[in-house]
Amino acid sequence: MCGIVSYIGPKDPVPILLKGLRRLEYRGYDSAGIALINKNNLQCLKKAGKVSFLESVIDDSAINGFCGIAHTRWATHGEPSDINAHPHLDLKKKIALVHNGIIENYGAVKEVLKKRGISFTSATDSEVLVQLISELYYNSKEKLSFEDAIRAALQEVVGAYGIVVICEDEPGKIIAARMGSPLVLGVGEGEFLIASDASPIVEHTRNVIYLDDNELVSIKDEKFSISKIDSKMIVNKTLTKIDLTIEEIEKGEFPHFMLKEIHDQRHSISDTMRGRFNLDDGTTQLGGIADYFANILSASRIYITACGTSWHAGLIGKHLIEEYSRVPVHVEYASEFRYRNAIIDNNTIIIAISQSGETADTLAAIRKAKELGALTLGVCNVVGSTIARETDAGIFTHTGPEIGVASTKAFTAQLTILIMLALKLGRKKGVSRQKGKKLIRALRHIDQDVSSILNISKKIKKVAESTWKANNFLYLGRGVNFPVALEGALKLKEISYIHAEGYPAAEMKHGPIALIDENMPVVFIAPQDESFPKILANIEEVKARKGIIITITDKINNSLKLLSDHTLVIPKTHKHVFPITCSVVLQMLAYELAVCRDCEIDQPRNLAKSVTVE
Ligand code: G6P
Repeated sequence: MCGIVSYIGPKDPVPILLKGLRRLEYRGYDSAGIALINKNNLQCLKKAGKVSFLESVIDDSAINGFCGIAHTRWATHGEPSDINAHPHLDLKKKIALVHNGIIENYGAVKEVLKKRGISFTSATDSEVLVQLISELYYNSKEKLSFEDAIRAALQEVVGAYGIVVICEDEPGKIIAARMGSPLVLGVGEGEFLIASDASPIVEHTRNVIYLDDNELVSIKDEKFSISKIDSKMIVNKTLTKIDLTIEEIEKGEFPHFMLKEIHDQRHSISDTMRGRFNLDDGTTQLGGIADYFANILSASRIYITACGTSWHAGLIGKHLIEEYSRVPVHVEYASEFRYRNAIIDNNTIIIAISQSGETADTLAAIRKAKELGALTLGVCNVVGSTIARETDAGIFTHTGPEIGVASTKAFTAQLTILIMLALKLGRKKGVSRQKGKKLIRALRHIDQDVSSILNISKKIKKVAESTWKANNFLYLGRGVNFPVALEGALKLKEISYIHAEGYPAAEMKHGPIALIDENMPVVFIAPQDESFPKILANIEEVKARKGIIITITDKINNSLKLLSDHTLVIPKTHKHVFPITCSVVLQMLAYELAVCRDCEIDQPRNLAKSVTVE
């Protein structure tokens, strides 16, 4: 949520910052802005709208300098507008700040500053911080240095922040600080970048340092130093090498990142599984949590906590872990879990699922669980992310960067990890080798299955072309496929703005059936497993009410053909792998519907990929 990038070094910062902003735009695209120091002169340009709009304005105004900060915003306080865009400047227009996070006590601080005669131009919480820094720097009796003024200001604010600040009086210096919102320092040859993630950095250097909470980095004269914000204690941190490639963060020949990432699933699920099978023994190897299997197996309960799509993965994970290992699993929205009095002790395991590893609620949930003595495990995609670092152990999904705001390949990677975890636990709890081998064989066939699904994309497009005008969709599934229905509905809502609901198929009779008429498309997830006769009966019920039936199945039969308006047949696979393959169809369907409706697929309105505020 909000992307920050800054640069100091010998090159022209403008193209570096603009490219960096484009890479970070998935974090928010309500407005964008840039501030630069040119000799001893601070210049700032900011505009409501996307980075491309800022770029067009910059072309005209020839802004330049030798160090700079930039920001792409997801609005929390104050509407998206030029004035509320970052960077924010102090009254003297000498200090510029970019901020990701929320200053919770901004109202109180603003009142104090107003009484001292400071007027505000924006409705943001972030402006309060830059005005406070300025007040402390220019007007405090102690004559604080710029850096100390920042430290002092940060002691007075409550909330979450990743900030980068520059000041006209100290033109060769950049200062950044973190509490709750991610910041990565890129250390190049005589140049440095600070960004919300590594994507704007990778082109310039592969050496990075992930800042932790309560850390401040100060860069000047080609040197950097990291210290604690409050105590000034120097922190020695080691450089990490990032192994991100440029191709992974560009969309190549695809019109959208989402489509690229859907197609990536032809190999990304295998990437997630690589080196993690033992086919002979019908089991899996999950090195990251190997030391904790005994704890998991003897746990009184497991909580899976997550948000959004990752929460849906958790629901499927519950189904699988309970089935294979018989350990009770509860799945909770992190935003609820963090505030309720859940039963947590040192025999409880918390599994946090998060693509970004930065979601504020999920992070808060694991922090709370840790305090209460639980063992915390992470299932994250981003190596070096906060959740990955703060959990006791974890498993990376290794699916490569996911840029499209609607999660696709990260979801199927999470499901893959959860299947592998369930199997691993199950094999230790008496699930037979044969059963394990069967599951592994199905997983190993997944690249071909996904390719076959992508081969029916024309058929999926036809379904979209005949249903895109609908205002509502219903998605129905049973058992392990009920959360798949939830995820299908979420994908549609996110990118096409069509209202959609996911329901357990039989529950339809307890409410949603009242909505069904000839204008309502109903997507049935109907694999030929033990639940098939039941779901067929549900399809009949919708047919009787003239609903438009779209069936996704792995085996067509006459009844399905007769009842369905559209059937999408996908390869037969193991019933526990079907949620993965079926999800690819649902992703494609949502994508094609959004294309028909001419929606902004990679940047849907109001959403951000990484939700780093509560
Ligand atoms: C946002 C994204 C979703 C994502 C959710 C959780 O809402 O738009 O795609 O599922 O956050 O994100 P996480 O990174 O924790 O998986």
